Amino acid sequence: MHTAARALPTDTSPVTLVCDDLIAQGWSAIPHFFPGHLITALHIELMEHAEHNRLQAAHIGKGEQRTLRSDIRGDETRWLDGKSLAQQDFLAQMELLRQALNSQLFLGLNDLEAHFALYPPGTGYSQHIDSFQNNNLRRITIVAYLNEHWQPEEGGELLLFNDDNEIYQRILPEAGTLVCFISEEIPHAVAITQRPRASIAGWFRVRDTSF
Ligand code: OGA
Ligand code: MN
Repeated sequence: MHTAARALPTDTSPVTLVCDDLIAQGWSAIPHFFPGHLITALHIELMEHAEHNRLQAAHIGKGEQRTLRSDIRGDETRWLDGKSLAQQDFLAQMELLRQALNSQLFLGLNDLEAHFALYPPGTGYSQHIDSFQNNNLRRITIVAYLNEHWQPEEGGELLLFNDDNEIYQRILPEAGTLVCFISEEIPHAVAITQRPRASIAGWFRVRDTSF
């Protein structure tokens, strides 16, 4: 008796989808990656920091190149410190992603640095690449969006550019969506937003072996 060949059960967990997308196209956008209650808790935490003036105008560059250029980027940020339960939950999920990226893409990612970011209406972030000229430890960018019911006419999309400098993806910053991409490879921008735009942006880094 013959048994029909059967595909092995495929693992379609969201973390596996991210890995598959990164291998196939260098970027990934997964709606509903995070549960609603976690996103709500993180959003509340960010808005409390904003109300109490605990956000800082974001800079560009690093070391001596570090400057404030609100014409280039208009977000206000605060590094995650892992102190709240919501942050711990978020960071635990990112740790699972880090391990999957290392085992499936052999990236040797060592840690994650991540910050809350809030773009006030009228601001965005011009086209750029997420690696510093003088230090390229950042390998994979992650962005988690915290905004319920985002409408296309509110702007604020994440724009991805191809090699011909054309926009080939517009991703709405909708609550629960996780975006990942290869930090050094994908030029991107944040379109001017009409509504406060809340997110967590982070970077998986390799260990600094230069000293
Ligand atoms: C960044 C960035 C994209 C986004 O913080 O470097 O490009 O969609 N963010 O918030
Ligand atoms: Mn960026």
